[in-house]
Amino acid sequence: MSVTVRVPAKVNVQLAVGAARPDGFHDLANVFLAVGLYDEVTVTPAAELRVTCEGPDADQVPLDRTNLAARAAIALAGRRGIDPAVHIHITKDIPVAGGMAGGSADGAGALLACNALWGSGASRAELLAICAELGSDVPFSLVGGAALGTGRGERLTTLDVGGTFHWVFAMADRGLSTPAVFREFDRLAKGRAVPEPVASGELLKALEKGDCDALAAAVSNDLQPAALSLFPVLADTLAAGRGAGAAAALVSGSGPTTAFLTRDAESAQKVAQALRASGTCRSVRTASGPVAGAMVV
Ligand code: C5P
Repeated sequence: MSVTVRVPAKVNVQLAVGAARPDGFHDLANVFLAVGLYDEVTVTPAAELRVTCEGPDADQVPLDRTNLAARAAIALAGRRGIDPAVHIHITKDIPVAGGMAGGSADGAGALLACNALWGSGASRAELLAICAELGSDVPFSLVGGAALGTGRGERLTTLDVGGTFHWVFAMADRGLSTPAVFREFDRLAKGRAVPEPVASGELLKALEKGDCDALAAAVSNDLQPAALSLFPVLADTLAAGRGAGAAAALVSGSGPTTAFLTRDAESAQKVAQALRASGTCRSVRTASGPVAGAMVV
């Protein structure tokens, strides 16, 4: 018997970052939108814990116990006093180290799948608590839709969204390490006061109305200068998407995936084509959101 869970990627329509806290993390006002690019996580009983992965980026995925999916199985099994003897297979479509919560998706997916496979009966609240232990973005991968994350991003408030937003994503030819991007943010912030992160009222209103132009005017990412500093060619990708008529262009989370908001599916195809022709990225995908979070299929 196996259980398969499908989990979406995310894009941050706002990522406001505060100063480094004593624990090294940063307080955030992080507005997540789940978009229709998915990883699938299948768990099957096995002699011992084992992780396998398939997909274009599979060779970059760690298959040991540092994988968030393995850590999720270990965390749930530990709480139930059982052995995490399970084969976790990940079918990967979300870019690895891309700023779209691919690793977090696998963590949330494995957790939900193991809870079903083992009949562990963990409540939504317990699953969310385990997700928050695993990483700042993992709770959102479970919940999906749209949400404001505060604290280090793990404390979620669900947001109403009044429409569908069409996106194009340009994948870069290598990943960026999230801790390295936050360190670069700290380096660039040295000597200036970093304001408290606050969610933008205009942005929340734009989401609620489903208003693409208003959302385009309000999107922001405080990690973008740090990502561009570590990965300067991303500026060319952003310019190529803007030139092709994207309503907004920004780095997704800690990058290096770049995200382009477009007014409709047709415009998304045009922007995607221009990005492919620009030679500034490895691959291009279109996806819309919000979509539901982790789900057993
Ligand atoms: O929570 P997660 O394990 O995904 O975070 C990865 C790294 O990103 C952290 O170790 C930290 O360096 C950085 N981070 C941060 N502030 C946050 C979230 C992540 O500095 N709110």
